[in-house]
Amino acid sequence: MDELTVKEYYRKYVIGCYGREDFVFVKGKGVWLWDINGRKYLDFFPGWAVSGLGHCPEAVVNAICKQARKLMHVANNYYIDVQAMCAKNLIEISFDGKVFFCNSGAEANEAAIKLCRLYGSKTGRYKIISMKNSFHGRTLATVTMTGQEKYSIPFKPLPEGFVYAEFNDISSLNACIDDKTIAVIIEPIQGEGGINVADAQYLKRIREICNDKDMLLVFDEVQTGMGRTGEYFAFQYFNIKPDIMTLAKTLGGGFPIGAMIARKGICDLLTPGTHASTFGGNPLACSAALAVIETIQKEKLLENVSSLGPWFISELKKLKERFSVIKDIRGVGFMIGMELNVPGSSFVNRCRNNGLLLNCTHDTVVRIMPPLGVKKSHLKKGIRIIEKSLIEEFGNN
Ligand SMILES: Cc1ncc(COP(=O)(O)O)c(C=O)c1O
Repeated sequence: MDELTVKEYYRKYVIGCYGREDFVFVKGKGVWLWDINGRKYLDFFPGWAVSGLGHCPEAVVNAICKQARKLMHVANNYYIDVQAMCAKNLIEISFDGKVFFCNSGAEANEAAIKLCRLYGSKTGRYKIISMKNSFHGRTLATVTMTGQEKYSIPFKPLPEGFVYAEFNDISSLNACIDDKTIAVIIEPIQGEGGINVADAQYLKRIREICNDKDMLLVFDEVQTGMGRTGEYFAFQYFNIKPDIMTLAKTLGGGFPIGAMIARKGICDLLTPGTHASTFGGNPLACSAALAVIETIQKEKLLENVSSLGPWFISELKKLKERFSVIKDIRGVGFMIGMELNVPGSSFVNRCRNNGLLLNCTHDTVVRIMPPLGVKKSHLKKGIRIIEKSLIEEFGNN
């Protein structure tokens, strides 16, 4: 299909709920993407953080192909061998508990909301506190839980029971708690909200408050999970254990999968009839996730993030010294934000024209999330393109 036909079919047949950039990408390998005209791009925001192992990682491609020839789908009223293995491996790298499989981050958060409400049902508690500027998904409940009204206002009336606290502000959290509160949900590093890193002491205090008041602590690790911070999960980076953790994005290495992990003592509240997903834990998805975990281990990707992440951030900080338009460089591992003094979309477009794909979130924050296995040479190339684009866009200072 040629480029014009693709765009024409989109105009005619695809619902336009995405702001779509004027590119058709047709091939990917590792840190590289190719458009329909054969132009090659360095991708430092692969698949909105889904392709954390880069594009078409060999092990994941092989696992999916092998599984597809064996068994593509069987329903959840039977046992599924790869699902069992995937759950075991996820528990081994996270915390003692059990896994519910689904297909996306929003679904994982929906499962978490339902589990929290089940936990609270005996004491009549149902309210969940989330953070301002958070992002938890687009279903009606998760978009309501998302602490950014612009996403939910058009869909009123919204489900009840969601309250919003300021991020990194314990007194704001305390002010939100009442006798109906059952849980707190937080992204340990806010992604869509502009790469805002939680303070470790703040997270520790939330953990203590949840313990004191018998409330559940939910970490939304849809974006931070599966190696982004240099640990499998951000909760390990911060050394604060949640009761529930939600995952998606990199978990499937490009194949759709979501998961909610709940600790021992609460996971068994979900019994037959309380929750389900037809595709959840599908053999293909689980074979992909198994290959992701195996690749992270085999290729020592956590070590790569831990060693190159700080170096990359320090190189970006050097640019901040030179370019006054850069207000802040922040982040952990390969989850990095470059905040500008001006809206960032034009700069991101400039980088793309120069061959580097990045993302602009929260108007002024340039989001940089290279694949976990990226090499120093790729990062150096990325820095050169960022520098060139800064000069072109804002001049030499
Ligand atoms: C932290 C976080 N939670 C949940 C979601 C929703 O995930 P999905 O789009 O897979 O439903 C996202 C998506 O960007 C996210 O960043």
